[in-house]
Amino acid sequence: MTDAIASLAEGGHDAGPEDGPRAYVFDAYGTLFDVHAAVRRHAEAIGPDARAFSDLWRVKQLEYTWVTSLMGQYRDFRVLTEDSLDFCLARFPDVDRRLRTDLLDAYRRLDCFPEVSSVLAALRKTGAKIAILSNGTPPMLDEAVSAAGIGGLIDDIFSVDALKVYKTVPAAYALVTSRYRTAAPDIAFQSSNRWDIAGAKAFGFTCHWINRADAPEEYADFAPDKVLSSLDGLVEAAA
Ligand code: LAC
Repeated sequence: MTDAIASLAEGGHDAGPEDGPRAYVFDAYGTLFDVHAAVRRHAEAIGPDARAFSDLWRVKQLEYTWVTSLMGQYRDFRVLTEDSLDFCLARFPDVDRRLRTDLLDAYRRLDCFPEVSSVLAALRKTGAKIAILSNGTPPMLDEAVSAAGIGGLIDDIFSVDALKVYKTVPAAYALVTSRYRTAAPDIAFQSSNRWDIAGAKAFGFTCHWINRADAPEEYADFAPDKVLSSLDGLVEAAA
């Protein structure tokens, strides 16, 4: 029996809603915040490769999280975001290097997706906790949340920085169940990143893949409980 399940068996869990998830936990980058907003703000200055540049920045940033974790090393997400940007600037030499500071500033204050505030407000009314679980560092997440004006809608921010290892290590998802003293299936986890959903499902969360880009299905052994095209579908399901 896991600690969380033992705790539930003893009746030792925190108070929560009678039915439905005890907490709605959201991935940050790509799920609440649009990772392509930084490049989009400077798209004209970047030129015709803007979209490819943004895609590569994201892919490299994530690759660095997995590679460093597998090595048993850790460099925080702010540093990996800078390193991956530097790779992109080298890969696209026509892009003016002086944009580096502007792009990193923009990354700290990404747009959130349009439905985020109304969805978080509606889900909060169910009595469930609302939280973020992210690879981002606490200062990055605090700044992004406050720039997006959603701080008042979020109860807790969990950062893997506390562990110095990245998702999809099970301990990252366990940050939530340990704090909320609840069994994994009672957590509704939302991510636009299919690899993150695979990790969360392997851990035992109830998973909603927010497939904004209509990406093909993958990680068949770790299928989401539901696929939604935006966060709006969560509110309909909770009603
Ligand atoms: C996050 C990134 C990886 O954890 O999407 O927020």
